[in-house]
Amino acid sequence: MIGDAETKECQLKDPMDLFHSGQVVKICAPMVRYSKLAFRTLVRKYGCDLCYTPMIVAADFVRSAKARDSEFTTNKGDHPLIVQFAAKEAQVLCDAARIVCPFADGIDLNCGCPQRWAMAEGYGACLINKPELVRDMVRHVRNQIDNPRFSVSIKIRIHEDLKRTVDLCQKAEATGVSWITVHGRSVEERHQPVHYEAIKIIKQSMSIPIVANGDIKTLKDAENVHHLTGADDAVREVRKYSVTHMIEKAVNVNSNAFDHIQMKLFRSQRNLYLSGFTLFLWLVLRRTVTLLTQLAKEMASHAALEAQVNDATEAAKKYMAEKERLQEALSEKDISKKKVSAETTDEKLKEIEQLKGELQKTSNALHKANNDVIAVKKQSEGLKREYDRLLKEYEWLQGSLNAAEDKKDL
Ligand SMILES: Cc1cc2nc3c(=O)[nH]c(=O)nc-3n(C[C@H](O)[C@H](O)[C@H](O)COP(=O)(O)O)c2cc1C
Repeated sequence: MIGDAETKECQLKDPMDLFHSGQVVKICAPMVRYSKLAFRTLVRKYGCDLCYTPMIVAADFVRSAKARDSEFTTNKGDHPLIVQFAAKEAQVLCDAARIVCPFADGIDLNCGCPQRWAMAEGYGACLINKPELVRDMVRHVRNQIDNPRFSVSIKIRIHEDLKRTVDLCQKAEATGVSWITVHGRSVEERHQPVHYEAIKIIKQSMSIPIVANGDIKTLKDAENVHHLTGADDAVREVRKYSVTHMIEKAVNVNSNAFDHIQMKLFRSQRNLYLSGFTLFLWLVLRRTVTLLTQLAKEMASHAALEAQVNDATEAAKKYMAEKERLQEALSEKDISKKKVSAETTDEKLKEIEQLKGELQKTSNALHKANNDVIAVKKQSEGLKREYDRLLKEYEWLQGSLNAAEDKKDL
């Protein structure tokens, strides 16, 4: 925020003087992103009588020095200047007004912004349905800002039922609002024709200045609207300021030519910026679409993979279950097998024991038989020997007998 010591006393040019000058007041309507210091400086060169800042959210402005520095910049030549706020609490609007009071000529409460975010936050056009809150906010600022020349204005849209708009305006007037800007469209309307007859009715019901707004693109438009409504006109197209400048002020041609070139430069720069931005947006969109398509493909393949994995998992589970079942069956079989084999082994062992016993018996018997055989053998050998001896003895006896007989014979 650029200030200046001389301006700190709030003794700036009273914008109300403009409305009492008897001339059509040329006002540059507030425009977010556009109505900054450089733009205001330019339009003032083209005969703009009164400038607004873009809408600033009062709560952020009060709370944050960073917001103040980025949202509000001004200089000595930037007058008369109205700072437009979005607000929904009287004290917050007051605090914001107090901050800008040393640098500006008035504040304006935005009761016309139809953007969804603003409406959802309780700012902008939803305030046209809260006349008491608007009255409170205006009254608070009026009471708390000492400088009576510091203007407090509101900018509204119209209701479907115009009586409600007139009621709102009258309540605002009663609390001391300096002027009211009427954008002659309802909250829902965007580019539909402006209801100038509604602005005229409002103007006829009020004593304070009413500024007509909407679809005023040339100085001729401004004059026509002025005649149609009897109101002062807000002009937002810059081109016509140069026309105004040339027709009304008839300043020297060179200066006008320079201004004209400057204006053309500004317009080309703006168009370039817009085209660049559109191109950038298009590229971003294209990239986004590509990425989304890729994402969709990836997601499709991911889904397919997931299905495959699920199938595989199911199959694996099945196999595992089958394996477990088989293992169980196997182990059961093993156990029974083991049981069977244990039983068989027992039987076999018994059999073996039996067989062993029998074998032992048999071998004992055999051993005994062997012994018996040996004994019998020995006996038979002894008998054989006895037989041989007896046979020899018999032969000898036979010989002796024969010899004895021989001798007898003799
Ligand atoms: C880019 C842009 C920004 C705007 N910003 C604001 C704003 O900050 N505050 C406000 O009260 N109105 C704002 N308006 C609305 C104008 O002040 C004005 O009411 C409107 O453009 C009039 O309708 P017209 O465009 O048909 O002439 C904006 C309009 C445009 C096109």
